Amino acid sequence: MVRVRIERVSKRIYLLRLDDDRTRYFEALWEIPEGVTYNSYVVVGDEGAAVLDMWKGEFSDMYVEALSKVVDLRDVSQVVVHHMEPDHSGALPRLLKELGGRAVVRGHLMVGDMVREFYGIEVRFKPLRDGERYRVAGLEALFIYTPWLHWPETSMSYLFEDRVLFSGDAFGMFSIPRAVFDEEGFEVYEAHARKYFADVVGHYRSFVSRNLDKLDKQGLKVDIIAPLHGVLWRRHVGRILRLYRELSSGSTKRKALVLYASMYGDVEKGVRVAVEVLRREGFEVAVHGFTDRSWPRIGDVIGDAADSSIIIIGAPVYENKVFSLITWLLELIMHKADAEQRALLISSYGWGGVARRVISELLKRSKIELVEAVEYRGSPSPSDEERIRLAVKKVIGAG
Ligand code: FEO
Repeated sequence: MVRVRIERVSKRIYLLRLDDDRTRYFEALWEIPEGVTYNSYVVVGDEGAAVLDMWKGEFSDMYVEALSKVVDLRDVSQVVVHHMEPDHSGALPRLLKELGGRAVVRGHLMVGDMVREFYGIEVRFKPLRDGERYRVAGLEALFIYTPWLHWPETSMSYLFEDRVLFSGDAFGMFSIPRAVFDEEGFEVYEAHARKYFADVVGHYRSFVSRNLDKLDKQGLKVDIIAPLHGVLWRRHVGRILRLYRELSSGSTKRKALVLYASMYGDVEKGVRVAVEVLRREGFEVAVHGFTDRSWPRIGDVIGDAADSSIIIIGAPVYENKVFSLITWLLELIMHKADAEQRALLISSYGWGGVARRVISELLKRSKIELVEAVEYRGSPSPSDEERIRLAVKKVIGAG
């Protein structure tokens, strides 16, 4: 059930959190049975109140109702938009209507046009420049432009007095955490933050790295990181910053992503041989098989692709083409993970093998090197299985 949480973050800051367990496919792509939260912040100071980002449009009425529980709407004079993606700006038109044109919208220069084009409304917009000091409800803030975290207009604000960094999508996570702050051990949140990074911001990894450098140079003392999804970081500020450093580096580990489709089990038989060798060689193995019994989550596949040094691709030939689910997933991995990896292709065909040619052409557009391919007709024979064992050893550099 969708739930609203209103919590005080500090003396002058409130969190309005919408716990969304209704969205099943975030961005119409990523399965999130764990749910997601949208975090909006309200700053109340000597010069009235300011709203920092909002919720998804379908929750607009609930948003206005929640906001009116912490401030008199007549006091809201400013709405800061750090990110225009509709999971955070969707409630803006309804909010502005409620505020009756009193509030000024602030954000990166691009935000003004985007609001008009996204929602067809004219607003009182006053752009903020990178590095500009400005006042949020009378409190001093620093505006930091952080492009591609995760759109071109994305930005952050730092509130000096409370030492809070409003970080946009960055440092966010999927799931609906029990508490609003990171009260539990970091390991409780880490997998959710990793998945969010891989699925949502992974493609812009190099910008993450540059923006982390930019934040470092500011030398800000941050007590709380307040992202737009998930927990507010207070206990684990250093850990989440280090995790982002690690993820943005694109480094991989002794881990193999095993991604396959198998219509009648013939590809799966070959893949099992490869998995056996990988495990014996001490690899962490993440297996995602699309079969008539299982259909893994796309988000989990991408999450495991991001830090794997090896990819085992199992693909049947289907109507004289490579099973298209696998080529589509490989394209997604190339786009999102964009890492240097070594790959082995295992393919079963009925009439003719086309997979080696198609997959090697596809991977030429990526950093993934197709080291070996083992193709067989129907089920793998003992000699095919031996070819797979040798090929795995070659791909991992043990043969
Ligand atoms: Fe949570 Fe890029 O929106």
